Amino acid sequence: MTERPALPVASDGSDALQVAVRVAQAAGAEIERRLPDTIGSGAKERLGLTTKGGWNDRVTEVDKAAEDAALAVLTGAFPDHEIVGEESGAHGGDSPYRWYVDPIDGTWNFASGLPHICVSVGLWGHGEPLVGVLLDPIRKETFTAATGRGSAINGTPVTVSDENRMEEALLGFDIGYKGPEGKLLLGAVAELWPGFQSVRMMGSAALGITYAGCGRLELYAHHYVQPWDIAAAIVVVREAGGIATELNGGPLTPESRSIAAGAPRIHEQFLAATAGSLWRASAC
Ligand code: IPD
Ligand code: CA
Ligand code: CA
Repeated sequence: MTERPALPVASDGSDALQVAVRVAQAAGAEIERRLPDTIGSGAKERLGLTTKGGWNDRVTEVDKAAEDAALAVLTGAFPDHEIVGEESGAHGGDSPYRWYVDPIDGTWNFASGLPHICVSVGLWGHGEPLVGVLLDPIRKETFTAATGRGSAINGTPVTVSDENRMEEALLGFDIGYKGPEGKLLLGAVAELWPGFQSVRMMGSAALGITYAGCGRLELYAHHYVQPWDIAAAIVVVREAGGIATELNGGPLTPESRSIAAGAPRIHEQFLAATAGSLWRASAC
């Protein structure tokens, strides 16, 4: 654990960690309400799935409703803070505190009825990580972390894996929605194989990083992430005793495009094994 900076406090006396949990719960309630619509064929139509960016970058009406619910709680608690929401963009400004909200990380999973999604709520202050909360509405797990205060799942403290042998490691990746860059990642994984136990591509970067923060994976890596994918999960990994950097080993911020996070010794070996390979090119 690191130094313990003070957290901002809302007018009702709640600190930013308590507010972040309420923000995530507000989005989570919207998702839970629509879970029945994810069952069976026609789910994508029922959920109003549309294309927003690249050909396979999608959004549902639930993403938007969940973000609206989250932001209503957040702006009520901290009207002066800056907020970056995946669906609604940047709000406010001129505050040292910036929140990052991903209302559904794993939209493709959600629209396909795959049970691996989360709400991600992160707070950074003066450019430093402060709070990370991730809520999995399917498994009913809330991951909480605040700088200097540790990481927990549903209140139970967690740490990263103590594994130090790459050959025993379970690695997590995702290829995102960037065709050519995804190929670079797949190539690097293929180069490493069979030097580790196995690989998981579970479709939620935020949850993947968080899983690496609580020992479910030894490491999670992604070559193309957005601020709302990583801002909260970075706090979980670091407060659980893990390391989180860019893929080239450089310092990580929410604005970083790539990430490697998890158990310190596995992180070190992974970066060493992939140094000079395609990772460096993809992280530019
Ligand atoms: C995506 C998921 C996916 C990752 C993509 C992200 P979204 O977020 O985290 O696992 O590979 O890069 O954009 O669009 O479902 O919020
Ligand atoms: Ca996301
Ligand atoms: Ca999202």
